[in-house]
Amino acid sequence: MVALTQQAARRWLEAQRVDLAVELSQLSLRIAARALFGAELAHQAAPIGRALTAALTLLDRRLNRLLPLPLWVPSPDNLRLRRARAVLEGAVRELIAQRQRAPAAGAPPDLLGRLRQAQRAPAAGTDAPRLGRRALRDEVLTMLLAGHETTAHGLLFALWLLARHPEVEQRLHAEVERVLGGRPASGPDAARLELCQQVFQEALRLYPPVWLTTRQAAEDVVLGGRVRIRRREVVGLPQWVVHRDPRWWPEPLAFRPERFAREAPRPAPWTYFPFGGGRRACIGRSFALLEGTVVLATLSQQVRFEIDTRRPLHLLPAVTLRPAGGLPAAVRRAGSPARCS
Ligand code: HEM
Repeated sequence: MVALTQQAARRWLEAQRVDLAVELSQLSLRIAARALFGAELAHQAAPIGRALTAALTLLDRRLNRLLPLPLWVPSPDNLRLRRARAVLEGAVRELIAQRQRAPAAGAPPDLLGRLRQAQRAPAAGTDAPRLGRRALRDEVLTMLLAGHETTAHGLLFALWLLARHPEVEQRLHAEVERVLGGRPASGPDAARLELCQQVFQEALRLYPPVWLTTRQAAEDVVLGGRVRIRRREVVGLPQWVVHRDPRWWPEPLAFRPERFAREAPRPAPWTYFPFGGGRRACIGRSFALLEGTVVLATLSQQVRFEIDTRRPLHLLPAVTLRPAGGLPAAVRRAGSPARCS
């Protein structure tokens, strides 16, 4: 995480101006590929990012249609979706083949190793079936996709909020200096980078990348003695609304990372659920919190962003919540004087 963030920061410094939406997405894709699958996606990160954006936009359009055309109909949207899918599946096939050509001898065990183990023999003591080739590809694709856009958007909203609250940003830089003193962050530091983690958590409250979770009722149920839900009905649980409800969050629109301080009262159940909850809760929660914390700290050591916060953030509530039109930023070296605007 640290090495890839440092590399990205160096590139951004050379470029001087970047779209943080694109750059953070590529960074978190590379982090997920490296950490989970031991793969280097340097050159494929951009095409994968484009294919993913296209696929999510087209899927979103399908979800909003009353009667979407079946996928086999060669409509322009379906053809675009097929092309995006082919790029994504091709990238995953290549990633798995990379490992088959050069097994990661001596490398720490990762998720791909575990999945390939499950291809050879199912987990002992379970009745899980042996994982087929297609299932392996789908698992890898799911983890890559679920694991990068969301974290990238969380980071983007955190940087946007920091730019709007320079006093919090200053405190964050001071924390990073105090805890790390100029050396690169490592896993155990994350617990001591408290404000970095709180900023990320508060960003996920105000701008939850997954802004709506759904569940289908398994049986008829009456909620709170008033609301009747029938079997198979779909219920939406909107993080965006609940996270901004003044009943649970005093001054809900204020950016206050200290809400997540260790000594602060814990949010009541289901009033803060950026990672969903229950049996289908996000499997990558700890990974995402670690990544959010470590990337914010590493960026704080390397760069400063100048973001035009007078421009309102136009949000696009697609499959994930994202800023329409990206997030342009000027980049300068940490410690160098700010440019006049
Ligand atoms: C800030 C980052 C992230 C956010 C906001 C997020 C949010 C979510 C949410 C809301 C769900 C649905 C949970 C539910 O229905 O109750 C989910 C599912 C999932 N997430 Fe994440 N996620 C993040 C990062 C990650 C990462 C880093 C990974 C992989 C390493 C990951 C992998 C998954 C997978 C595989 C599922 C499907 C779980 C299932 O259906 O059983 N996510 N995530």
